[in-house]
Amino acid sequence: MHRDPYPVFADIRERDPLHRAEFGYWVVSRHEDVRGVLMNREDFGQGDFTENVRLFYGPEFDVMGQPAYKWLSEVFLMQDPPHHTRVRGLVTGALTARLVRAMEPRIREIADGLIDKMIAQGSADLITDFAYQLPVRVMCDMLGIDPDDSRLPAVIAAIAQSFIVFEARALTPDELTTANQEIGVLQDFFEWLFADRMTSPRNDLATALVQSGGKEDSLSHDELVTVAIGLFGAGFETTAHMIGNGVLSLSRVPDQWRSLVSDPQRLAPGTVDETLRYESSLIATYRTALRDTQLRGEPIVAGEKVLTLIGAANRDPRVFDNPDRFDIQRDSKKHMSFGGGIHFCAGAELARLEGRIAFEQLARRLAGLQAETDNPKWREGFLFRGLSALPVRW
Ligand code: HEM
Repeated sequence: MHRDPYPVFADIRERDPLHRAEFGYWVVSRHEDVRGVLMNREDFGQGDFTENVRLFYGPEFDVMGQPAYKWLSEVFLMQDPPHHTRVRGLVTGALTARLVRAMEPRIREIADGLIDKMIAQGSADLITDFAYQLPVRVMCDMLGIDPDDSRLPAVIAAIAQSFIVFEARALTPDELTTANQEIGVLQDFFEWLFADRMTSPRNDLATALVQSGGKEDSLSHDELVTVAIGLFGAGFETTAHMIGNGVLSLSRVPDQWRSLVSDPQRLAPGTVDETLRYESSLIATYRTALRDTQLRGEPIVAGEKVLTLIGAANRDPRVFDNPDRFDIQRDSKKHMSFGGGIHFCAGAELARLEGRIAFEQLARRLAGLQAETDNPKWREGFLFRGLSALPVRW
């Protein structure tokens, strides 16, 4: 499943499109069903957070006694309107298309600086030397964090170890203890950041968020910290893996890489969407039935959970011709990798821009880029799909 989940996804999508998983939830995998569930805000939403988590651990489990779950319960992605609407509005205000477009020269500068370093080193691990660095530096820039802050490596590691609470399963006791500890590391760091901007304001998003305090619908201090952790994490994990998954896919189909190299500016946007479709860095998300409803003619009872298998929908032959072929010139815009409906990815514009610049500059400057292995190691976990390392040469 880790190396190549797509044969299993195809099997479930074709044979059992409304699958009842042994974990106690439904799984939908056809494009029309994944899209249908995510777009249908009347019947599906996030529902009761505590009950959703207890599904995996049992009815006695102390959900809110776990700092990592308590944090997750406050993330606006996990909430329904009206709370979701209010916080999302404040966040999307910082990520409008206009503000994101204005970041292009800076993102290009960051990407070029990282490529300069790779060239000077002579060899590189694309994941740690480029794919992670680019979005981390962009998020640091946005929030006003010094990218050379000595605490940053611990903050980045803490994101990976605490975001495991998004997984739709019971964590092992060790995983849960680590997630609880690491969320504390993140809270301390962002509390420090906001306290600092309170006393010494700067021209950055952290200051803008702090200064929105006092306005009628502004974020409370705790909400600020929760939003910042969520944005920082959402802003780099998925984007980093999009870049890594794209370079791996391009390496495996050399004629696609050669076309990109022949016209990077024209073909980079399509490379981004095709990477998102073909090898999405987010494999699935989930919803809860808000009331009794139906899927594919079957009754779904209020409170039941549905896993929407984005990775399977993206290869549905009903929507994409020859879906297992990686083709940067096809129209892949209908992929579901940014979700849909009221929770549609708030950072899609930024992620697309980072991806476009990354693929464009890599193709321009490292025309011979190639993965050193065809069988790299995938990171642990199911929901987030990405490589733990990708040694490359050029
Ligand atoms: C390739 C990169 C990315 C992918 C594949 C991705 C994917 C997604 C998906 C599928 C959702 C919806 C989840 C659901 O409905 O359950 C989502 C939501 C979200 N994403 Fe992204 N994302 C990416 C990059 C980013 C970036 C760069 C940011 C911020 C800077 C970001 C911020 C968010 C936020 C705040 C939400 C929650 C929106 C809401 O609940 O209203 N994402 N993302």
